[in-house]
Amino acid sequence: MDGRAIPRHVAVIMDGNGRWAKKRLLPRAAGHRAGMNRMIGLSEHVFDCGVQVCTLFALSTENLSRPQEELNGLYALFREYFPRNAKRLHEKSVVLKVIGDRGLLPADVVALIEEGEALTADGGRGILQLAIGYGGRQDILAAVNRAVRQGKEVSMEEFSAMLTTGGMPDPDLVIRTGKELRISNFLLWQAAYSELYFTDVLFPDFSDKEFDKALEAYASRERRFGKV
Ligand code: FPP
Repeated sequence: MDGRAIPRHVAVIMDGNGRWAKKRLLPRAAGHRAGMNRMIGLSEHVFDCGVQVCTLFALSTENLSRPQEELNGLYALFREYFPRNAKRLHEKSVVLKVIGDRGLLPADVVALIEEGEALTADGGRGILQLAIGYGGRQDILAAVNRAVRQGKEVSMEEFSAMLTTGGMPDPDLVIRTGKELRISNFLLWQAAYSELYFTDVLFPDFSDKEFDKALEAYASRERRFGKV
């Protein structure tokens, strides 16, 4: 990249693992494994590009209604890859955070998440935020209910701080791979003024080069935040 605007926070909706596998006559699980490998490669590349926060939408609340067999495969993949990659991120001084409803996840997966977060907490290079069991509406509703329990009206800033992403900058750029043109209950409040980038490329094929193309598109956008 040249000296043009680099988004501080990039969020990625990683879609297309299943179709990637289908195209190759492979089981969906093979697509998820390829997706997991790409996720790891990308989580290194984004910080080399100067991005400070990267949020990856790994599993939505709605994805949790997929067949149990597919979910078990995803959790098995997570158990296999997550601990060693948390170590790798720690070595690279990247903080790992997981957002979403942990009550919806298996207890041992939650324990691994907590270990990974504790291990990487002191990193200073960037923040990798994984959305697992995450839903934008659920995030907003939980914050509304928290505000109601406090019994007072809240400002926009106070409300933002009550979301699971509290303390993070809003995403500057939201990328969706895999051809669909929708947000699918991702960071609904936080993405109010994000630039959107959609690509037909299926997530396992979303190379570092493809990511750079999204950064180039971002650099050419004029952000006005509703002003003239
Ligand atoms: C989207 O492809 C991918 C997912 C829903 C899962 C991706 C997550 C991982 C590989 C990480 C794994 C584990 C955990 C527990 C976070 P898709 O299956 O929707 O693809 P399709 O639209 O082509 O069917």
